[in-house]
Amino acid sequence: MDVSIIVPTYNEAPNVAELVRRVSAAVQGREAEIIFVDDSTDDTPDVVRAVAASASLPVRLIHRDEKVGGLGGAVVEGFRAAQSDTCLVMDGDLQHPPEKIPELLDRAARGDVDVVVASRYAGGGTSTGLADRTRVLVSKASTAVTKAMFPVKLRDVTDPMTGFFVVDRRAIELETLRPRGFKILLEILARKSFRIAEVDFDFADRHAGESKASFLQGLHFITQLAALRFGKMSLFAVVGGLGAVVNLLIVWALTSMGVNYVIAAVIGAEVTIIGNFLLIERFVFHDMRHAASSVWWRFAKSFGFNNAEALIRIPIMALMVETWHISSVIATGITLVVAFFVRFVFHSLVVYAPKKGAKPSAARAVLEEIDEQAMQPGEI
Ligand code: GDD
Ligand code: MN
Repeated sequence: MDVSIIVPTYNEAPNVAELVRRVSAAVQGREAEIIFVDDSTDDTPDVVRAVAASASLPVRLIHRDEKVGGLGGAVVEGFRAAQSDTCLVMDGDLQHPPEKIPELLDRAARGDVDVVVASRYAGGGTSTGLADRTRVLVSKASTAVTKAMFPVKLRDVTDPMTGFFVVDRRAIELETLRPRGFKILLEILARKSFRIAEVDFDFADRHAGESKASFLQGLHFITQLAALRFGKMSLFAVVGGLGAVVNLLIVWALTSMGVNYVIAAVIGAEVTIIGNFLLIERFVFHDMRHAASSVWWRFAKSFGFNNAEALIRIPIMALMVETWHISSVIATGITLVVAFFVRFVFHSLVVYAPKKGAKPSAARAVLEEIDEQAMQPGEI
């Protein structure tokens, strides 16, 4: 099998026969299959079965009873079911011209990239099929914002929101994907660094039926962006926040027992530092441990940094208490927030830095690292 063509469908009955006809013609001479991953409430499944019976290539149907993850979830299901590692994803409404398939596959077959993106915004590509001016504007603006949020990973991609692409399944870690809604390509590209090529295409008008894009999809998209971008950092923040609360409680308990606030702060800091390290090892950077230095070396770096930081933080705090006459609890709170960002960057870049062989240029490496680590998926 040369390629598995994955088509997510939601109520596309009038488009199925024409799609299969044009795809079949386009992939002539190649061994291909079409997999419809369907969440329809209309008679799309029946139409697919009927068309499959007389098609010149294998046409498979996966009908899902629960549309988990929507369009994106359907595509991931298609990846799992595919016979070929080369998976081509396209919409079922013929806005993605099947005649482009050979060019995409030929590009992929050169073997130097993991993903080939069919782009509306590269070279001669167009997006005239987008319903109206508002959608064109929304599409362009969200593409710009997305690229700005992932400057390194999306550096070679003009259209990270397209639904038309080829990917080598072996290059994606399917378990790390959290598909929700329409932007499955972005979900894939933001997780890991890929070698990417683009081919331009004209986004056509719908063959029949209506777009399923909605305001809700827009919301999905925004939460997806936030989760992708801030996944690891927000977990780090949760752990840090927890530590801060414990720290404050210790300071409060000890000072109310009559302990000097500087001593109370030192005890609070040490307990928090050790607790934080154990928590981030387990929950935040667990996926980076294997590539990083040994656990004791990581602990040494983390402990050393946090103590140095606390050493600076406690005198600053004391100064704030003495000169501004604010409470030691509030002063601890303020300094902890400032310290948070510094600490995240240090842990991402130094404590959990992968042991490297050959190095790329220093500036590039730093950029890649920040990009990579700030948006690793996190799990609570
Ligand atoms: N299985 C499944 N489940 N398929 C779905 C679902 C769902 O919940 N929602 C939509 N689809 C299918 C549609 O039936 C269609 O085949 C394809 O996904 C795209 O849906 P459209 O409703 O046609 O979306 P669009 O044209 O507004 O947007 C498409 O093009 C954009 C630009 O390339 C999508 O591919 C977007 O992701 C893409 O950004
Ligand atoms: Mn469409």
